[in-house]
Amino acid sequence: MLKNPATKYQRFDPVKLPNRQWPSKTLDQAPIWCSVDLRDGNQALAVPMNVSQKLEMFDALVKCGFKEIEVGFPSASNTEFSFNRRLIEEKRIPDDVTIQVLVQAREDLIEKTVQSLMGARQVIIHMYNSTSPAQRKYVFGKSKEEIIEVARNGARLIKERLHRLTEGGTKVTLQYSPESFSATEVEFAREISEAVMEVWQPTPEHRMILNLPDTVEVCMPNVYADQIEWICTNIKNRESLIISLHTHNDRGTGTAATELGLLAGADRVEGTLFGNGERTGNLDIVQVAMNLYMHGTDPRLDFSDMTGLIAMYERTTGMTVPPRQPYAGELVFTAFSGSHQDAIKKGLAGYEQHHSIWDVPYLTIDPHDVGREYREVIRVNSQSGKGGVAYLLESEFGIELPKDMQREFGPIANDIVDNLGREVSGAELKQMFWKEYIERETPFALHHFHADGVDGVFTCRSSLVVEGRERGITGTGNGPIAAFVDALVSDAGAAPFEVVTYREQSLSSGTGASALAFIQIKTTGGRLVWGAGTDTNIELASIKAVVSAVNRAR
Ligand code: KIV
Ligand code: ZN
Repeated sequence: MLKNPATKYQRFDPVKLPNRQWPSKTLDQAPIWCSVDLRDGNQALAVPMNVSQKLEMFDALVKCGFKEIEVGFPSASNTEFSFNRRLIEEKRIPDDVTIQVLVQAREDLIEKTVQSLMGARQVIIHMYNSTSPAQRKYVFGKSKEEIIEVARNGARLIKERLHRLTEGGTKVTLQYSPESFSATEVEFAREISEAVMEVWQPTPEHRMILNLPDTVEVCMPNVYADQIEWICTNIKNRESLIISLHTHNDRGTGTAATELGLLAGADRVEGTLFGNGERTGNLDIVQVAMNLYMHGTDPRLDFSDMTGLIAMYERTTGMTVPPRQPYAGELVFTAFSGSHQDAIKKGLAGYEQHHSIWDVPYLTIDPHDVGREYREVIRVNSQSGKGGVAYLLESEFGIELPKDMQREFGPIANDIVDNLGREVSGAELKQMFWKEYIERETPFALHHFHADGVDGVFTCRSSLVVEGRERGITGTGNGPIAAFVDALVSDAGAAPFEVVTYREQSLSSGTGASALAFIQIKTTGGRLVWGAGTDTNIELASIKAVVSAVNRAR
């Protein structure tokens, strides 16, 4: 990289807009959305979608609620042309959905485009030509006036053919894009757009779409917003226009540019699912829609089945959704850090209780709203604390570790995970717990337990396996557990201890036992140690928990 980039790159001149209004506006309604997945997104793929992939994506876009869908560039290839024909002839376009097609301002291409649309119910014909200084100079070698003439001529060629569609009952909306709008002088963008408007003669009843592309993102989002507000304020006959935004993401701020452009007065947004598109991609429509949603505004798009949508997208485009893609990526609702997990756990519990406004720490939206599971929210690696471990055991297996026991087992699990050097699943954590507590059978393994009581005095007659040999033990106490403790200490040689905490719970199916008991003992040295036992019989589960604690204390 250069020490002084100014020798090669120049500052971007902002628009003069001293009285800008957009910074004090707020977004409180959804724009008109137009998906350009099947055109801009498709043309950016190494292997463009075939007709059946395009059909699958078209259906998915309709299911999300898109009412305007740019379906292709029908003059560009046979696939694109026949895709249009299949949509129309097989009556695959719902009544409330308008298909949009892109075309350059050239007669042969316009002719083919019109042919591809015959018989459709409603269409948007989208014509564009490039207007920026670099395109005028290097690509076309044309003056501003000549570039305006290209647009005016294209507009006329489309207008002359419209009757062929309208006579067959097709409702047509016209759209013009001064391509590379954000890199074009605003005065020139206005002039060329007004030249097209002069030909198409839009009215407030039959508006045309003026799409203002950030073809290559060349400026900060606030500058793009100024450009949009400048056009909205200075163009003739604004009320006959639907102002549309089409941002790309070269500087990584496509979403911000769109949101600020909406504040600046735009009515419509073009973009793609997950931001597929040329180079760094088009605007990710999911992001803008979900940003509205998280502020309580109905986006009028439905992403309830985000997982299904991602699968469709990956299948049809061959692209992948990065794990940290806002609202969609695999990790966006996941917390590994212990303190985050703890806050989420408490926030979720609070929300469960009150079901009011969503204010769970670290989660911008309720993952359920996009079809995600809470199971995915907390995942355990070496950065996680006891909270995450306890959460997974509880949410996946219904195991409710006592608070104090969480403090004991958390670091044990953490050390194991640290050694493994990877994330662990809930099932693996359960295995660790079983190994640490339930399967602790040395030096003592319970072989047989029996206790009965007369007048509040219990006698226990049991047997243990100690170092491979069975041994009978007897003891008394004010309950079965107390009698067993007495037997352990007096007959089996266990060091004296007392039971300080006892908790039991029933377990759901799938854990292999119906009762789980937790026992905390205190040794003569004052050490507190937990044990756990499972059985179909709750009394036996608690006896096993005592054995587990004593074995662990050894
Ligand atoms: O990015 C762009 O400028 C385009 C136009 C064709 C609208 O995709
Ligand atoms: Zn584009």
